[in-house]
Amino acid sequence: MKKVSVPVTNDVCPQTLFVYGTKNEDGTPDFGLFCWFSYCWFDELGVICAIGGSKRTLENIRRTKVFSANLVVEDNLPLADYFGTADGRDGDKMDVEVAWEQGAVLDVPVLCSSPFCFELEIDKEIATGEQNEVVLLCRIRNVLKDERFVDSSMTPEELYKAIAAVQTCVDCDYWSWDGRHLGKWHERAKEIKADVEIGAAARGN
Ligand SMILES: Cc1cc2nc3c(=O)[nH]c(=O)nc-3n(C[C@H](O)[C@H](O)[C@H](O)COP(=O)(O)O)c2cc1C
Repeated sequence: MKKVSVPVTNDVCPQTLFVYGTKNEDGTPDFGLFCWFSYCWFDELGVICAIGGSKRTLENIRRTKVFSANLVVEDNLPLADYFGTADGRDGDKMDVEVAWEQGAVLDVPVLCSSPFCFELEIDKEIATGEQNEVVLLCRIRNVLKDERFVDSSMTPEELYKAIAAVQTCVDCDYWSWDGRHLGKWHERAKEIKADVEIGAAARGN
C-alpha cells in the first residue's frame, strides 16, 4: 500500500455519535450532539470526550460534574441532529418534544429513545486550547441498556443491525453502521423544527 501525506484530517475515520444530557441551573434538561468520544482506562473502563469551545453543555458539566452520553441510533437521528444544530444558550432550544427520564444513579437526563446510555462523572478536565477547548476524563457510574439487548441470543451482526447506531465521517455526513447514507449534518434537524438555525456553538465546532 502506497501512502501519501495530506493536510491534518480525520475525514475517513468513522466516529460514533452520542447525545450528552445535562441539567440546567433550574433543573430542566439540555441535550447536545457529540462525536469526539472514546474510552480510557482508570482502574476500570472510563470515557474520554473532547469539547470544543463554550457551550451550554460544557457550562452545565462544569457546574454539576455529571452528564449522560446517549448512543445515537437511526430512529433518533433527526432529534440528535437538532441537538447538534440549535444552541443551548438560545432560550427556545428545548421547546421541542423530547422523551427523557432521570438517570438511575446520577442526577442526569437520559434520552428514552436511546438503547444504550452512560451515566458519567468527571474525574479530570484538561485544557487543550485557549478558548474553552477541553478533554474530559470521566468515570462510568452506570450503564443503561435496552433490556432486549441484554443476554440476547442474537449474533453480533443481528445485534448491530437491531441497535442501528449512526456514525459520522468525511464531509459532514451521517452513515448507518452498514454504510447507508443517512443525510448531512443540520439537514435531519429540520424534521424536528423546519426553521431551525445553526447556533453559534455548532458553527464554532
Ligand atoms: C455531528 C456533530 C457532531 C458534533 N460533535 C461535537 C463534539 O464532539 N464536540 C463539540 O464540542 N461539539 C460537537 N458538536 C457541536 C455541538 O453539538 C453543538 O455545539 C451544540 O450546540 C451543543 O449543544 P448545546 O449548545 O446545548 O451545549 C457536534 C455537532 C454535530 C452536528
